[in-house]
Amino acid sequence: MCGIVGYAGSQDALGILIGGLESLEYRGYDSAGVAVYDHGKFEVTRATGKLIELKKALASKHRTASAPVGIGHTRWATHGRPTETNAHPHTAGRVSLIHNGIIENYLPLRAMLEEKGCHFLSETDTEVAAHLLNTLLEDGMEPLAAMRAMCAQVKGSYAFLALDSKNPDRVLVAKNSTPIIIGRGEGENFIASDIPAILQHTRRIIVLEDGDLAQITAGTVYIENKGTEVARKEEVISWDPITAQKGGFKHFMLKEIYDQSRVIGDTLRGRISESDGSVKMPELEPLRAKAATLKRIVLVACGTAWHACLEGKFFLEEFAGIPCEVDYASEFRYRTGLIDSDTLVIAVSQSGETLDTLGALECAIGKGITLAVCNVVGASICRKADMVLYTHAGPEISVASTKAFTTQLVALQLLAIFLAEVRNSMSANARRNVLHAMLQLPAAIAQTLKVDSEVASVAKGFFQARDFLFLGRGRCYPIALEGALKLKEISYIHAEGYPAGEMKHGPIALIDEQMPVVMVLQRERPLFEKTVSNLKEVEARGARVIVVTDATDEDLKGIAAQAIVKIPFVAHETSPLLLNIPLQMLAYHVAVLNGTDVDLPRNLAKSVTVE
Ligand code: AGP
Repeated sequence: MCGIVGYAGSQDALGILIGGLESLEYRGYDSAGVAVYDHGKFEVTRATGKLIELKKALASKHRTASAPVGIGHTRWATHGRPTETNAHPHTAGRVSLIHNGIIENYLPLRAMLEEKGCHFLSETDTEVAAHLLNTLLEDGMEPLAAMRAMCAQVKGSYAFLALDSKNPDRVLVAKNSTPIIIGRGEGENFIASDIPAILQHTRRIIVLEDGDLAQITAGTVYIENKGTEVARKEEVISWDPITAQKGGFKHFMLKEIYDQSRVIGDTLRGRISESDGSVKMPELEPLRAKAATLKRIVLVACGTAWHACLEGKFFLEEFAGIPCEVDYASEFRYRTGLIDSDTLVIAVSQSGETLDTLGALECAIGKGITLAVCNVVGASICRKADMVLYTHAGPEISVASTKAFTTQLVALQLLAIFLAEVRNSMSANARRNVLHAMLQLPAAIAQTLKVDSEVASVAKGFFQARDFLFLGRGRCYPIALEGALKLKEISYIHAEGYPAGEMKHGPIALIDEQMPVVMVLQRERPLFEKTVSNLKEVEARGARVIVVTDATDEDLKGIAAQAIVKIPFVAHETSPLLLNIPLQMLAYHVAVLNGTDVDLPRNLAKSVTVE
């Protein structure tokens, strides 16, 4: 969602702010703005559209001096249209302020402030915070005290950054339910909504907690919570700036598809002891004592992470013998989930900031045992859950999730084996076999990536279709759902994923000569034969079929399809992950051929921090 960058130091803040906002473009936005304190007044520049428009607006101002303190924002509209007036920063008197989140009580606050004579220019919820802070400062409060008093009146989620023209050396910060980090430099400090924004400058970060207020100058970082100064731990991030770049690929999405061989290795590293068929994950130790009595697992997530949960259910039920339910986080949080102390609730999220996933996790806190499966160190869900299993996918920049998904599959599979070992629900030999197959994944992915050019030419025959159907059975059903989601989100082509066996109960009516059907066909029996029957049914109705499979040439005799993409076979348990890769590639190439904005598809945000 919105991206936030702040700076206090000795360099020109504008360059730092724009560079930071560029690294946050992946979050999705529809307008942008910056404010710096320049020659005794705020210089605020805003523009609708992409950052190039903001840069043009800045260039037209012909600035000569540099400003050492500033704030910058990319806005993803929630309250008020994506116009220049609604873009942040919002200025009220001596205050210039940016915000990520939603102020739920902004209407009564606005009415109260209007009564006091404040004049509002925008339709946003944010502008009330700027006026409120200005009013409190003008009443004579010190900056931090005014920020504290402002936050006490605001209900909702926020990361605020504010400048006060009477204290131009500092940036004021407040956080509640919306992520914000501080980057420590030498004689300069940074603030951002996400790590890539400051990675060019520092790897030393402090993650602020809910209720924290901070005041940042070039040389100081002061943090308080409930009016008392607090010491927050400084962490050193291992991501390097190069990892966050495109690395020679045309798009982040393609780079991230190719990253998978390496990052799956990172997710497995040090966690497997093949000889005794066990996984070594000290972070899961608190679960050991409870594992034997676990009666139920509930997995909650959104979008792609939800598909990872559906796949995870197969491993958790089969290996650990624990009944699993998978729920959309946005549904779970408003339902009676019936969580008790024998239930493990797993929240899966790449960003760890998806508001619905966070909300669903919060519903389980204090009732069941909670585990976050997450990619971003220190993210909100990690700080809320009892335990965290990190996925180690590295920064995922493209809005379309690829490597985050496959590392989630691996993490859930490791968890299932951990539970299986503790519960004695799987023999050491069976565990060893699966772990052996998992260790072969990096090499198998490298082999699978070789189908890229073949998939690119398949895409040429299909990219003009208006609808696609993705079918799969068993472990390949979640893969079919994920394939359809990937295609629709980046190519804007309508796509549906369906369990192949359900097709006769409705979707088969859609099939005609115009309809491409992508059949995810795993060689595992008995579902192989069942899926082939479904394939014949769609073929008989004229569908143009693309088969993505790990089956042998012998298996595939007699199957007529317009395209058959074959990938290497390692084991039935790891095949779904590999079968997903050609589907990621298909979505990517179809989108490129359609000329869409692959990494920043319309209407979407990387991290959905609103409901
Ligand atoms: C995936 O391609 C999507 N962009 C989206 O469905 C995403 O997976 C979802 O918003 C959940 O995000 P999270 O993993 O950061 O919680």
